[in-house]
Amino acid sequence: MSAEETLILVKPDGVARGLTGEILRRVEAKGYRITDLRMLTASRELLAEHYEEHEGKPFFEPLLEFMSSGPVVAVRAEGNRVIEGFRSLAGATDPTAAAPGTIRGDLGRDWGVAVQQNLVHGSDSTLSAERELGLWFA
Ligand code: RTP
Ligand code: MG
Repeated sequence: MSAEETLILVKPDGVARGLTGEILRRVEAKGYRITDLRMLTASRELLAEHYEEHEGKPFFEPLLEFMSSGPVVAVRAEGNRVIEGFRSLAGATDPTAAAPGTIRGDLGRDWGVAVQQNLVHGSDSTLSAERELGLWFA
């Protein structure tokens, strides 16, 4: 059986704050394997597809604005239960509430802006992972 895969994004705030290395270090230290990686500034088209589940929500526009504001690092990572495991490493969506020990809890905070800038994205299911890896590593 081939190992599970997930899409991880270091969001523009993570790249801008120089935290790419620290974030990827945590992924590797946990034991997951990085099998592909690219840096790019995402287009609105790509982001609208990526976040299609949030279309129509009040934070959708600010989210696209934020996510296209600078380069992101897209990462293909693999390992048994990596989807669940990375979501656990990332911590809760709101960085103020995210538990210490997690990426968002240790490295993130509220900046008082329209959308939570929370450093990372991780696919939330095998279906999302497959769909998102297809978008970012076409
Ligand atoms: P992600 O998809 O980025 O991994 O984050 P997530 O699953 O933890 O959170 P999700 O509900 O999918 O929301 C996607 C991203 O939208 C921003 N957000 N801001 N009320 C807010 O300010 C708010 N709600 C969502 C965050 O950047 C969140 O990660
Ligand atoms: Mg999500």
